Amino acid sequence: MKNISAKNIVRLMSALVLLMCMSLTMSAQRTMKPLTEWKFSHKDNAAQVQVAFDDSSWETVTVPHDWAIKGPFDNNADKQTVAIEQNGENVATEKSGRTGSLPWIGIGWYRTHFKVGKKSERVVLNFDGAMAEPQVYVNGQKAGEWKYGYNAFNVDITPYIKKGKDNVVAVRLENLPESSRWYPGAGLFRPVTLIETGRVAVDEWGVDFVTENISEGKAQVRTDITTVGTNGKALKALVELRHKGHPSRALGSVIQKEAEITDGKVSVKMDIYNAQLWTPENPNLYDLCVNLYEVGTKGKMKLIDELHKTVGIRTVEINKELGFSLNGVTRKIKGVCLHHDLGMFGAAVNRGAIERQIVLLKEMGCDAIRTAHNMPSQLQMDVCDSLGMMVMAESFDMWEYPKCKNGYGRFYKEWWRKDLTNLVLANRLHPSIVMWSIGNEIPEQGSKEGARMCKEMQDLMHQLDPSRKCTTGMDRWDGCVTSGFAQVIDVVGLNYRTHRYQFAHENLPQGFVLGSETASTVSSRGVYKFPVVMENGKQYADGQCSGYDMEACWWSNLPEEDWELQDDNDWVIGEFVWTGFDYLGEPTPYDGVQYGSRSSYFGILDLAGLPKDRYYLYRSRWNNNQHTIHLLPHWTWKGREGEVTPVYCYTDYPTAELFVNGKSQGRISKNPDQKGGRNNPAIDRYRLRWNEVKYEPGELKVVVYDAQGNKAGEETIRTAGEPHHITASARTFDNLTFITLTVVDKDGVMCPDADNQFTFQITDGNFRGVCNGDATSTEVFTNPTMKAFHGQLVFCIDKGAKALIKATNLPELRL
Ligand code: GAL
Repeated sequence: MKNISAKNIVRLMSALVLLMCMSLTMSAQRTMKPLTEWKFSHKDNAAQVQVAFDDSSWETVTVPHDWAIKGPFDNNADKQTVAIEQNGENVATEKSGRTGSLPWIGIGWYRTHFKVGKKSERVVLNFDGAMAEPQVYVNGQKAGEWKYGYNAFNVDITPYIKKGKDNVVAVRLENLPESSRWYPGAGLFRPVTLIETGRVAVDEWGVDFVTENISEGKAQVRTDITTVGTNGKALKALVELRHKGHPSRALGSVIQKEAEITDGKVSVKMDIYNAQLWTPENPNLYDLCVNLYEVGTKGKMKLIDELHKTVGIRTVEINKELGFSLNGVTRKIKGVCLHHDLGMFGAAVNRGAIERQIVLLKEMGCDAIRTAHNMPSQLQMDVCDSLGMMVMAESFDMWEYPKCKNGYGRFYKEWWRKDLTNLVLANRLHPSIVMWSIGNEIPEQGSKEGARMCKEMQDLMHQLDPSRKCTTGMDRWDGCVTSGFAQVIDVVGLNYRTHRYQFAHENLPQGFVLGSETASTVSSRGVYKFPVVMENGKQYADGQCSGYDMEACWWSNLPEEDWELQDDNDWVIGEFVWTGFDYLGEPTPYDGVQYGSRSSYFGILDLAGLPKDRYYLYRSRWNNNQHTIHLLPHWTWKGREGEVTPVYCYTDYPTAELFVNGKSQGRISKNPDQKGGRNNPAIDRYRLRWNEVKYEPGELKVVVYDAQGNKAGEETIRTAGEPHHITASARTFDNLTFITLTVVDKDGVMCPDADNQFTFQITDGNFRGVCNGDATSTEVFTNPTMKAFHGQLVFCIDKGAKALIKATNLPELRL
């Protein structure tokens, strides 16, 4: 015995606890099974709900599934004659591409078969969202429905189940034209899960976990539990908290507490010493296990349910004194807005594509996302929890007054309570969620009735989740102040309106401002227009926007306009840039039918996930761990010899000298004292610009200097010769490998105009999609062929698959 150290005894005892838990797991009755294999059809017939209906001719699909992403792109698919009030239009004109020009409008049916366990007494179907207006039938009978496609909902299907027999669930979905301002996707685009339990169980959404206080390493946490089917039974809960991901630490950090349940509810408080807090930089997570026991005669305990949830220990405060603070530490939010689509995958969620988005954003230094303008998927929130990304979880783009004729306004009155309730219940355990948003640019914001609605909705949110504050993105500034709307909301969120920040700070009781939506700067990757001018709403014949990052919309601005406000005022608590990635739909400034565009230009990264120059501008400001030195434009300008070709450097260093073929173009510094204002951003406070450089082929080099004047690094780009071969760089996320292909000259320099047609042959796995980031392209993402756009594209295959890549006029490449 004397050979066993104290540490090992602790380990042994912890292992015993674990073993006990495992044996208990086996006797609990809960099972959770994702339903992934379905039949799908666009036929709409009431008989399709019947068990005996023959669906063998229907398409076999895997859920999550987006029926529209395979295209084709067609401008007629979403052609509409409308005035976009949101964009300040009052005359209707013909538009297309607003919703991605994909065939998402229409009806779709899904059917699948399943069996339930002999012991199951309660069966629930969980939909994490279904686009849209899902009607759920089980064994021929209507079991439930929802309206809003983005929300999660549960259907208790116990009464319709046949034990030991084949059961059939059929789901009817319908997407109306003009029901969205962007590509909503179509179908069972998020998981469907079959949950089976005993009659008495922990309610699937009946667990909340709140960090009440953190001080000097000790955290006080509370777990609230609600059970179902209790019916006067004597019950006990055993709550266990175990650190995830660090097994050795985990073994020593199992915290348990037992409590009696009265009337189906109990709150369990625990003190955690040496708590490992959740932050974006260090996203510590815990496994919360709720064991439910029935207490029999003579106090005999029988385990009847066991539910595991992932939680994090952290506090969030947002107020005048601290601004935005996480675990008591004030920080400014470095956030981006994200639409839910995943580019080449459309709206169907998958972990690999979501992880890639979050990792690319984190590498830029971004620490928060806003789920614009709808409820997030659980998968996205899981990834944000585990990788460390804060979230503003949004709900609506409209309340009752419609922004588009068949949008959520049709349902608001009857459904807003149910929708907000499900938003909170489905999501409240995610430590990544730091605030809720009850709406984006709600037209009612300018009326007294709107202020009343805002209060009523926020009150419900507080009741459902007292631990988080609410915001809403406001854009009609004068209206929302006179109506009282702006005074009601916890967190004053301003969309653009940089010229109103000061007024909001001085006149509203809250005393601080969040840039709930900022910038809306537009650009296309690899495209540069001359002469370089700052101009909003600029259009060019090729349907692209300039990569010099000098163009925005009339209502929006360049990044620097927001930065100046954030840097000069403690009371600006951060921003959510519109947008992190390009998304399908809303091709402003090219939404006129004549342009044929189908995706946005707002992204910091393009639709393929390739960084635009702006990525490095934000990185130079946000990424505190790595230096940034990025030059633009590319340096291959046949025909521009001798012409003025401005050069910008995005860097965190204050000073740099530029050389063209060894000739200095001047050593310049950022101007930290520059003051700008509305439509007059302090660009030279944040970018280094040489505006008079004349192009000559060869080498463009920048040497950067730190604040003490020491040389700190350099970056060189060169003029490319003729396209010669393809280079590939691969990154794997979960079970997907994303491969960026670049057309280069014989020396490996990217050919920035290359548009070779690529084709892919995949073995040992599947081709998953391809995208080049061109908002005007009509090549579909699901066929294994696409042109390069400005020398690059991204394609995706299953992890472990092999690819043969061919491109016109270039040697093939095997990976
Ligand atoms: C905002 C709106 C966003 C998007 C953006 C484009 O006003 O909230 O959804 O439309 O404009 O700049």
